[in-house]
Amino acid sequence: MHILVVGNVLKDVYLNLDSRSDHFETDQNSIEWLDLSFNASEHHFFNRNSSFGGAAVTLEVLSKLGLSATISGSSLSITKDGPSNQQPPETYRYILISNGKPCYFVPTAYQSTHFETPTDFYDYIFIDRSANLNDTSINHIHSYLNLSSNTKLVVYLQNSKNTAILSLLSRASLVFCENNVTAPELSSISTESLVHLSETNFSYLDLSEKISPQRIDVLTHLSFYSIAAATIFGCFILGKSVEESLKLAKMNVENSTLNATLPLSQLESLAAETPNSAINNLELIASNLVLKPKGILAADESGGSIHKKFEKLNIPDTYENRRDYRNLLFTTPNLENYVNGVILFDETAHQLADNGETFTEFLTSKLIIPGIKVDQGLENFPDSTETFTKGLDGLSNRLKSYFEMGLRFAKWRAAFNVTYDESQKIVTPSDYAITENCRLLAEYASICQNNGLVPIVEPELVYDGYYSIEDSATLTGKILDQLFQKLKDKQVNLRACLLKVNMVIAGKQFSIASTSDEIGAKTADVLKNHVPSDLAGIVFLSGGQTPEQATDNLAAIIKHGPFPWPITFSFARALQDPALYAWKGDNSNTKSAQDAFAARLQANCNVL
Ligand code: 13P
Repeated sequence: MHILVVGNVLKDVYLNLDSRSDHFETDQNSIEWLDLSFNASEHHFFNRNSSFGGAAVTLEVLSKLGLSATISGSSLSITKDGPSNQQPPETYRYILISNGKPCYFVPTAYQSTHFETPTDFYDYIFIDRSANLNDTSINHIHSYLNLSSNTKLVVYLQNSKNTAILSLLSRASLVFCENNVTAPELSSISTESLVHLSETNFSYLDLSEKISPQRIDVLTHLSFYSIAAATIFGCFILGKSVEESLKLAKMNVENSTLNATLPLSQLESLAAETPNSAINNLELIASNLVLKPKGILAADESGGSIHKKFEKLNIPDTYENRRDYRNLLFTTPNLENYVNGVILFDETAHQLADNGETFTEFLTSKLIIPGIKVDQGLENFPDSTETFTKGLDGLSNRLKSYFEMGLRFAKWRAAFNVTYDESQKIVTPSDYAITENCRLLAEYASICQNNGLVPIVEPELVYDGYYSIEDSATLTGKILDQLFQKLKDKQVNLRACLLKVNMVIAGKQFSIASTSDEIGAKTADVLKNHVPSDLAGIVFLSGGQTPEQATDNLAAIIKHGPFPWPITFSFARALQDPALYAWKGDNSNTKSAQDAFAARLQANCNVL
């Protein structure tokens, strides 16, 4: 079995840019332009990776499936140590990732693809996504296929602009077609020869496989599509069912890294474990949730909390108003530039955005990771003023269906109120309440990871209170010690887990308000002394601070870096309050509410 791949071997260089640095110039229309003369020896990008791209990806996938393939006109081969090539590829492509978004830049002219008419027999000719064929090459392919009637042709159709390629379709036994391609030539080929690919779905006839695109950091859509098509094609040749082929392609795009697609045996074992296979992605999801310079929006107010918020502004607490309000937040222009993830409440996760998608799907399609609050609120311990968090009953089953819906992380909040006796001795939180709540947090985190969702563990020292910043530091440290002990006991993978925590700050009613400098220094100190360095990240709640206070205090904390973990915001009130006050339940205020919301998002991203 021999396959001839026709396409261009490229070298892709991924530069994850630090968008704050001065090699960007902003024009009068606020468009950022990259100054390409920047000095790369300075730290202007977070990381730099390079890999073979284009036809090389196809070759790698086919080789890892155990198939023998060659690229027309190239000596590139894949060994167990990766791609090997005597000649460097002629085309370099730079993939610049700024603010989480890729853009592409090809400094050398895009080469046309050379097709050398083979002297050998090939079972398949695979016209790769990277092929840039001129009329002469197309004619040579036609001539070869005419002479070699047993050779099957497979064509990847990226767009309908290359009309020369369209002339090959009638001879193709399999066509990969990206969504949105509308060539009249497509109607003449049987649907049994067509596989449709998009970033969220692979489909063939009435079978389809949903994809979770969480790979904005390493796998841009360039290699994504090549891996998908080559895996499906390879699996068809190997005699796999359509269903299995689509699933193995999903495993490959969701788990591959640069120059490291997966061998067949690994794809098969991942597929056999699905949905548990998603566990392998947990660390990646956790780190994508805290990618700089963005945060996480908490929009997970339960029925009771949103009711109180609406009531204060005389907004009727109806299903429609709750939907409209969340729709306003999530459709704020460029939300994806400010947040990596959004935490939803169950009702919201099921509600529909204006475009008819569920909010879960809507956020996913904007490359924002949707998450879900899974605790079921607070309940008093028997005969006590202290609370524990409910929600472990049936949690595993709820998480399974949340995973199916596309939710990829979860949140569970424990709340601790600070009170004193007459001699100013701390009465609550008691050791019992701390231990018990941390045990529940760890139990929840473990169940989350077993079901493929990243847990956010949130122990909150409630801001309402008469306590000093010193007591806040002591208590926060004590709670964190207990929490990480319990997480360790339950063997929770900290690299796939996030901490959401209060800033260290004097209680709202304490006689002396804390300054930002104090908050920054004390919070940094407590975290550095009580949080293990292998945790995936730390995010802050705002707790009832004003929006400006929360931003200033976040900035003050960050000044005390570097930290061993990424740090960012996950505010609810400090992001949403100005928007809610501007909206007032009236959709004619949507634009000003979105502007107010975007201003808070921007202010917080600026300090990261
Ligand atoms: P606040 O930022 O309003 O404190 O809310 C964060 C949160 O998610 C509380 O669970």
